[in-house]
Amino acid sequence: MEVDATPIWMMRQAGRYMPEYRALREKHTLLELCKTPELAREVTMQPLRLGVDAAILFADILLPLEPMGAPFEFAKGEGPVVHEPIKSRAQIDALRVINPEEGLGYVLDAVKLIAKELGGRVPLIGFAGAPFTLASYLIEGGKSTHFTKTKRMMYAEPDAWNALMAKLAEVVRRYLHAQIAAGAECVQLFDSWVGQLSPADYREYVQPHVAHVLGGITEVPVIHFGTGTHSLLELQRDAGGDVIGLDWRTPLEDGWKRVGYDRAVQGNLDPTVLFAPLDVVKKHAKRVLDAAGGRAGHVFNLGHGILPETPVDTVKALVDYVHEASAR
Ligand code: CP3
Repeated sequence: MEVDATPIWMMRQAGRYMPEYRALREKHTLLELCKTPELAREVTMQPLRLGVDAAILFADILLPLEPMGAPFEFAKGEGPVVHEPIKSRAQIDALRVINPEEGLGYVLDAVKLIAKELGGRVPLIGFAGAPFTLASYLIEGGKSTHFTKTKRMMYAEPDAWNALMAKLAEVVRRYLHAQIAAGAECVQLFDSWVGQLSPADYREYVQPHVAHVLGGITEVPVIHFGTGTHSLLELQRDAGGDVIGLDWRTPLEDGWKRVGYDRAVQGNLDPTVLFAPLDVVKKHAKRVLDAAGGRAGHVFNLGHGILPETPVDTVKALVDYVHEASAR
């Protein structure tokens, strides 16, 4: 598609760095925001005042876990906590392979509301967590540094691992299709922690499941994202995705060459750069734009989600700068 400038949006663009988000969070928990379509709509729209070229559905990758039978909460200061982490094959067998209408209808209602309000002004990006990243929360019970329990199951109990990954992949596949049917014009698969794996392990334990998720999505473009994935890019591309996410550790020109110019790429400014003075931010943003070389198919983004303390004015200035500096 022809564009008049490089498009830019930011992962986690709706969130705590915005005063209007913090104001709503004083009145509602994160899960209330996610589960009330009118509030999810409101939060999704908040960052559009910064001039970004896409809206991303306000939800969380963990939402499908609850209707599957693994409830969790967002504990203050700790992040997500899964109440009964998965330890046994019996727990895996008890997980439900739900249809998204059962238990995730509120997300689909939010997608409909947002798509209607946007009316095509900017595309709405839907999303889901990838099987490995979701499995890691289910098995570790929360955030992790070494992913020891996750990898232990993967290596020591491959049958249980594959049963769990297959269930997650089927739920995520259905969930993405349902978001598209409800009005999402693009979807992103977040495999945030898959960079923990070697290429050989990714190929054996993860790639077939991601291919199952992405295989049948033909209606809209798919963004396939991970972090720390420098050694996995070709394998991720082969698993699927029209747009491959690059984090800041991979020089964008190298990453794109390896992914192939028949795919688009998304990235890859270090989110921490946004804490620097504006001239430094612009220098780094220019480096990203130069690495893309004006080639069609670069979506400007951060290499990972925007951080909570990021100055809003700097985010706005980055959006303006990317548009000006890349104007065709
Ligand atoms: O604006 C957007 O990008 C859409 C909303 C969105 C949220 N989570 C809302 C949220 C998206 C796309 C996500 C994805 C998500 N959730 C990921 C993958 C993306 C990534 O960063 O790699 C992951 C790993 C999660 C799980 C999750 N949710 C964690 C680990 C945490 C706590 C960590 C933290 O930052 O405090 C959350 C909470 C969460 N989800 C917040 C937001 C805006 C934090 C803000 C709050 O508490 O109000």
